[in-house]
Amino acid sequence: MRDNEQTADHYTKQWSSDLGFKSFVQQNPEAAKAMPSRQLPWAGLFKRIREQASERKTTVYDAACGFGDILNQLTASPIPAHLDYVGADIHGALDTIERHGIATLLNHDITGELPTGQKFDFIICRAAIHHTPDPRATYQTLVRQLAPGGTIAITAYAKKAPMREAVDDALRATIIPMSNDEAFATASQLTALGRDLQRSQGQITIENDLPFLGIKAGAYDIQTFIYNHFIKCWHNPAFSEQHCDLVNFDWYHPPFAFRYERDELRAWAAACELEIVREASTEAQHYMECRSSR
Ligand SMILES: C[S@@+](CC[C@H](N)C(=O)[O-])C[C@H]1O[C@@H](n2cnc3c(N)ncnc32)[C@H](O)[C@@H]1O
Repeated sequence: MRDNEQTADHYTKQWSSDLGFKSFVQQNPEAAKAMPSRQLPWAGLFKRIREQASERKTTVYDAACGFGDILNQLTASPIPAHLDYVGADIHGALDTIERHGIATLLNHDITGELPTGQKFDFIICRAAIHHTPDPRATYQTLVRQLAPGGTIAITAYAKKAPMREAVDDALRATIIPMSNDEAFATASQLTALGRDLQRSQGQITIENDLPFLGIKAGAYDIQTFIYNHFIKCWHNPAFSEQHCDLVNFDWYHPPFAFRYERDELRAWAAACELEIVREASTEAQHYMECRSSR
């Protein structure tokens, strides 16, 4: 299978109605707050888009729209009267997304420009650019589709401590070639490890910063310490076991999962002559919002 086909196949399973992640997120907004997408400044951007689109025509390109989470937030009642939304993704579960009467959804690879040649006031690429084979080139392609003065916002995976990076790469090398079902079953072992670590009551105090190891001084519970510095083994008691498995499957199985320092993303913006207007980072991801002056 070619790499992009494997990405598409992976996400067709991940967003299938069988796994029910979309309904889980919709029915459990409190649990969903654990997702990186809820911890970065997306809500503020969506509010600004909704305000503008309630007054005048506002075009939005949701590049790699996933299961429609952003569309659902942009079209929360009352639907902004002048919102013109285009979502694109390569997975095979786009037909499970409700279009709210206004959305155009395209089966399209975001590494190429949209065939319509349309330009957009806002381009959003949330938690997806790192899954494309050449994220910097994807960014440039997206920027070319901005309308004059338009805004582009992305999140990309953050680089972690060196031990965590090495383990991520080693486990990925084994898991990527697996079939969806095999990888999903394997992900359950990472969930089990995360659950058992969380149940331990232990704490560790690191007395001094250890910059070579990417560890900052401080007190950590055991699960956070191991998770942040050694191995991603996601578990959250507010999620079902199957949805925890889905998060681990999402981390280890897609064929591309590049990670970045914030400065690397800044260099993308500079090369496209964009002004950075908002940045934020969590342990997991960097958010960068830029405006075109052209
Ligand atoms: C982690 S999901 C994020 C989905 C959505 N942006 C969100 O934040 O809810 C990554 C998405 O990127 C999509 N994707 C990966 N490579 C792509 C490509 N080359 N073209 C279009 N979509 C792609 C996947 O199919 C998947 O739906």
